[in-house]
Amino acid sequence: MMAEALVTYLHYLGFMVLFAALVAQHLLFVTEANPQQIKRLFILDGMYGGAAILVLLTGLGKVFWVGKPAIFYAQNGLFHAKVTLFVIVALLSIWPTLVFFKARRRSANLPPDTLMPLPAKIRLVQRIELLAVVLLPLLAVFMARA
Ligand code: HEM
Repeated sequence: MMAEALVTYLHYLGFMVLFAALVAQHLLFVTEANPQQIKRLFILDGMYGGAAILVLLTGLGKVFWVGKPAIFYAQNGLFHAKVTLFVIVALLSIWPTLVFFKARRRSANLPPDTLMPLPAKIRLVQRIELLAVVLLPLLAVFMARA
């Protein structure tokens, strides 16, 4: 009961941080960024990745450790839809992560007023991810009651 409550709390905390990091990164995104701005986008990307790992581990904890038996989820179409959408978001986030990682490495020793171009399409990818992250809790609440 205690473990279930804690895992559930960490699951919620994970997706709150994930959503906050993605919104902040989307708002701070610019197509011409100085090293300071790139550093900020890179740090937010790390928070986003860390939060995604927390969501995944606690989600797996809820399937295999606490709460309902794993068979409930194995037979639950909405669980499969939710995990598929989560995997799609994870795959979508690979390209922006690589862009921020490379930009961070390149900009580390540049003068603070240097502007580096970032692909404008990242904004679209972030919007698709945001939409998916809004739909994920909807799938989750129906999944829990299926
Ligand atoms: C950003 C991604 C995710 C979001 C926003 C999310 C959201 C939620 C929410 C809101 C609930 C509570 C549902 C309720 O009790 O009404 C929940 C429960 C749950 N989540 Fe997630 N989740 C995410 C990812 C995952 C992943 C990747 C897994 C599995 C690997 C997972 C497994 C579960 C399980 C097993 C439950 C318990 C459902 C029940 O009580 O039967 N979640 N999730």
